[in-house]
Order: sequence, then structure tokens, then C-alpha cells
Amino acid sequence: MSFLVAFLSDKFMAKTDEACLNEWRHGLLNQVSGEVLEVGAGTGINIKFYSDNVTRLVLSEPDKHMRKYLREQVDNHQLKIASVTSGTAEQIDSDDESFDYVVATLVCCSVTNLKSSLREIRRVLRPEGSLVFLEHVAAADGTPTRRWQNRINPIWKTFMGNCHLNRETEQAIVTEGFEIIQIERESMRKAPPIVRPTIRGIAKKPNNQI
Ligand SMILES: C[S@@+](CC[C@H](N)C(=O)[O-])C[C@H]1O[C@@H](n2cnc3c(N)ncnc32)[C@H](O)[C@@H]1O
Repeated sequence: MSFLVAFLSDKFMAKTDEACLNEWRHGLLNQVSGEVLEVGAGTGINIKFYSDNVTRLVLSEPDKHMRKYLREQVDNHQLKIASVTSGTAEQIDSDDESFDYVVATLVCCSVTNLKSSLREIRRVLRPEGSLVFLEHVAAADGTPTRRWQNRINPIWKTFMGNCHLNRETEQAIVTEGFEIIQIERESMRKAPPIVRPTIRGIAKKPNNQI
């Protein structure tokens, strides 16, 4: 199943990429510099959006089928600053405070434990380092979209690689002690209505936290 998801994911998302995701990824990743960790890097779709200001890029991806495409992307882009690892967001194989940025795009919906993932991301970020996020999220409580998200979620996550439709990711980021310094809330065009609500932006790790 995960082989099929890896094979189809870029093709399945092509229209959405064109309609909005490419522009959103570019706008966010253009702001990233220094030593960067990307969690759940998938097939490596973000690679082309990183600028020359990035000096080290660690691309972590737990799924071996996704990792195969990720390695191909790194090779195609002849990215000497990049390395590929197999870690999860819940257990990052890096020292404390070793990155300036951690990037998570369309990943917080899929991790097994969102709270542990955010805590681990905070651990590996330097003081004043930033989490860059782009995520589809739960619609507002009480809306028809939210009711559909709640209804469909059990079956959706079973067949879509543990992707949850109704995660309150913005609240989770704040609860884990990040300070959101930039956020856009927008509908993901050319996507099924239940995954349209999105957030994207930058959340800083406060100076006084481990
Ligand atoms: C929808 S894909 C997004 C891929 C890519 N980041 C993007 O922007 O298109 C979700 C990715 O999260 C990865 N993933 C699932 N569970 C994870 C975890 N616990 N930690 C890190 N990544 C995870 C999946 O293997 C998959 O590559």
C-alpha cells in the first residue's frame, strides 16, 4: 500500500500543486536559511524550492518507498548539502539545538503523535530557530465540513497513510510553546473539500526553551 501511495502521491497532487501549493511552498521555503531539517520529506517535492542560503539540508522520511524517490530527487538536483535519513518526527536522530529551521509540509496530519513530534522538533531547533509549516487542518467546529471530516476520518486515515482530516495543528503548535510569527489560513484549491482548510507559516522556538 505504501508503495502505491509513494508512486501516486505526486501525480495525485499535480493539479493542487499547480493551483496553489507550488506558490505556497516557494513563499515559505524562500525564507529558510542555514542548517535545515525537513521531516516527512516524502518524494522530495520541496527540494527545488530551497535557496542557496541553505547550508545543510537533512531530509528525513520514514517510508522506504518515499525515500527511494527522495534520493532520486537529491541526485537529480546534485544537492551536495543534502543528506537523507529514515527518522520519524517523533524520534529525530539529531542533537539538541542543531538546526536553524525545521520544515514540515503536509506532515502533521500523518504523524503518529503530533504532540511528541512538535516537542521533538522544538528540541532540535536552536533558540530562536523556526518551524516552517504548511498543513491541511480541521475546519472550524460546528461547520458542515468539520462534521464530514469527523465522519470520514476513520476510514480516510486507514487508506491514506495515517493522514488525519481533523487535526487542530495550529493549537497544537501553540500548546507546545512555539510563537507563531506568520500565518495564512487559506483554502487549498483543486483539492477535495474535506482537505481544503489549510494553515501555513512560521513558528519560532522562544529563546528560553529547550
Ligand atoms: C502527505 S505526505 C507529504 C510529503 C511532503 N512533505 C509534501 O509536502 O508533499 C506525508 C509524509 O509524512 C510521512 N510521515 C508519516 N508518518 C510520519 C512520522 N511519524 N514522522 C515523519 N514523517 C511521517 C509520510 O511517509 C509521508 O512522506
